[in-house]
Amino acid sequence: MELTRTADLWWKNAVVYCLDVETYSDSDGDGHGDFRGLTQHIDHLATLGVTCVWLMPFFPSPDRDDGYDITDFYGVDPRLGSHGDFVDFVRTARDRGMRVIADLVVNHTSDKHPWFRSARSSPDSPYRDWYVWRDEPPADAEKGVVFPDQETSLWQYDEEAGQYYLHQFYKHQPDLNVANPAVREEIARVMGFWMELGLSGFRVDAVPFLLETQGKDARLPDPHDYLADLRAFLTRRQGDAVLLGEVNLPYPDTMRFFGAGDGVGDELTMCFDFIGMQRTYLSLARQDAGPLAEALRERPAPPRDAHWATFLRNHDELTLDKLTDAERQEVFDAFGPDKDMQLYGRGLRRRLPTMLGGAAARIRMAYSLLFSLPGTPVLFYGEEIGMAEDLRAEGRLAVRTPMQWTPGRNGGFSTADPDDLPGPVVDGEYGPEHVNVSAQRRDPDSLLSWIRMLVERYRECPELAWGEYRVLKTGEASVLAHRCDIDGGTVVAVHNLADAAVDVVLNLDGLDDSCVLTDLLVDGHTPVSADGQAHVELPSYGCRWFRSTRPEDAEAGR
Ligand code: GLC
Repeated sequence: MELTRTADLWWKNAVVYCLDVETYSDSDGDGHGDFRGLTQHIDHLATLGVTCVWLMPFFPSPDRDDGYDITDFYGVDPRLGSHGDFVDFVRTARDRGMRVIADLVVNHTSDKHPWFRSARSSPDSPYRDWYVWRDEPPADAEKGVVFPDQETSLWQYDEEAGQYYLHQFYKHQPDLNVANPAVREEIARVMGFWMELGLSGFRVDAVPFLLETQGKDARLPDPHDYLADLRAFLTRRQGDAVLLGEVNLPYPDTMRFFGAGDGVGDELTMCFDFIGMQRTYLSLARQDAGPLAEALRERPAPPRDAHWATFLRNHDELTLDKLTDAERQEVFDAFGPDKDMQLYGRGLRRRLPTMLGGAAARIRMAYSLLFSLPGTPVLFYGEEIGMAEDLRAEGRLAVRTPMQWTPGRNGGFSTADPDDLPGPVVDGEYGPEHVNVSAQRRDPDSLLSWIRMLVERYRECPELAWGEYRVLKTGEASVLAHRCDIDGGTVVAVHNLADAAVDVVLNLDGLDDSCVLTDLLVDGHTPVSADGQAHVELPSYGCRWFRSTRPEDAEAGR
């Protein structure tokens, strides 16, 4: 296919990398990561092949929800740097061909935000109506509590205000009232501000919660019109900017968040595929490709210009809330049997390598899946070197430990006293002495080298992102085989989720013995028979990617 198309709708085959400035690299030895430290590591991201960096919240914050509780949407937390440092980072990233997006957390503010302080102080405050108040909580006030370990209700009585306010997350995060036009205008102003400073869009936090105006006195006539308005504003300001939305709902409900726009999509540019992620873990746990294959068959095609975003790990609990109780228990049993590894009764606070028992081939296969499945892959920092969690850290912080750069003190993250760091550096067999960037970048057999190679191949195979995909029947329960076709080009990927070697026969409609399947991850090729069959051998946890090629081009691996 024509590569020019990939430069236009750039997000469709982007490589997104999520990081928290606070835990990435500390340049001044105060224990907090900062923009200057991050910028010094720009070439780690560039050589990995990242095309878009997603910054977790870096705004001033009392840090009671790791920065998702904001006191100034226009500021940079002084611990992390200044606006100047931010712009330097964005500019240096651009020089390396990377775009930058950031979290847009506007469902709520911190209760320390000046708007909320003013709002609670008097019913006459100009900010009173920026939040959602009631004299009495509704009868179902406890329904939908997100953090059941901390909260029992969505409504909190405020002594100063003499009323209850809505908070769909923690009680220190009062919900903004998006039914108020002044709030909507301010949200647009915030977006416009950061785009002027160089951002290429936003990861929109908690989108269904943001649009949820049920049970509030003031309602948006149609919340999706509002989302479409935000998108229109964004693209008026910057045509190729994106909204990557956090929507964890069943597929048919998530589809609504892409919007219609005559089939082009006019709301979120990308939605995370939470369902596919959860079924991937069920498939890994069962060593059976079935649940994932089913998700891929069920997953609706997004509107023309929109795309799914795929991931194996994010910064939150690894939620398994969309599995049945029995399925979730299977994943818990396989990957996080101890209560301390589980969170909120629905998720795991572990990273992939420990869940897979450190089995190198299995971990590599899982990332091969991530990069070959249709959707834009999103990596969470540290995945590229196989970092583990630290269960000593509280709750979700277990997976947000400092980045491990070197085998040295604090993993090269900071020269500060370990007690001054935002969280513990992982210790034990996944600690920096064993898992770090500097050793892996020199080792062609490291996980980092493997992931770099996957990124390179993925970028060379836009068919994966743009093509029509089909899950192929192989007759082997443990094998997921899929093909992506566009403009006469075909890419096929085959993954063995089981711990036993297996041979499969692929039936490739439309292909015949005028072509061969050229391996893309190793040297080699596989013949295709006159009736489109190919015999493929896979070792335990093996994975292979192929492109259909004319036999005379096969050796050159074109
Ligand atoms: C989103 C974020 C999560 C945060 C919550 C409240 O779910 O991913 O980290 O705690 O919103 O802002």
